[in-house]
Amino acid sequence: MALVIALNRGRILKQCLALLAKVGIEPVEDMDASRKLIFQTRSQGHKLVIMRGSDVPTYVEYGAADVGITGKDTLLESASSSGYYERLDLKIGRCRIMTAVPKGTASVAASVAGPLRVATKFVKVSRDYFERQGLQVSIIRLAGTMEIAPSMDLADCIVDLVDTGDTLKANGLEPRETIAEITSRLIVNRASMKTKFDEVEDFVEALRSVVNSS
Ligand code: PRP
Repeated sequence: MALVIALNRGRILKQCLALLAKVGIEPVEDMDASRKLIFQTRSQGHKLVIMRGSDVPTYVEYGAADVGITGKDTLLESASSSGYYERLDLKIGRCRIMTAVPKGTASVAASVAGPLRVATKFVKVSRDYFERQGLQVSIIRLAGTMEIAPSMDLADCIVDLVDTGDTLKANGLEPRETIAEITSRLIVNRASMKTKFDEVEDFVEALRSVVNSS
């Protein structure tokens, strides 16, 4: 039975495919030249499915995919993690979840009256973080482009992914605290660990040796 692998579309897909190629898993056709989302592989023992990162845990949790690769940020936010195991840190897609404020702000908490308005798509992570800080916040959920929220006076600060920091800088913001270090992780459906034990273990161990040797 083919192992179904859910992959995060977007900026880490290329790095994921390079990793998979190193363990002998390659799509039969050029992904860039196709609008398809499901790809057979040359090895035939695997099937690749491309989706939004936030859907990867859902597909794996319900067993529609046996394994999945997505960012730790997505796993931290996902509603439930009871249906899958996190098996491997793939050490790609490295970035941080950080707080960021308008450039030059001394202390954002001191500069606002009332609860701090925080714009983010990382609602769970942010709520936990500010609670640990003992700060009263009002979380404003956005799907993206958090960077403009402070200048539009929607929020006092944001919580977002930071890689190079260029996006923050270009929007008049500066990074402050790191909330979590992020990399891509391999997750495995709980049932597939039993029903496809050999396929899953072969796949995990092959990836582990590639990751450890790079
Ligand atoms: C992420 C993140 C920032 C940007 C940070 O967005 O939300 O906007 O990357 O990268 P930088 O520090 O190198 O500038 P992404 O491009 O992944 O798209 P998204 O808005 O869909 O999350």
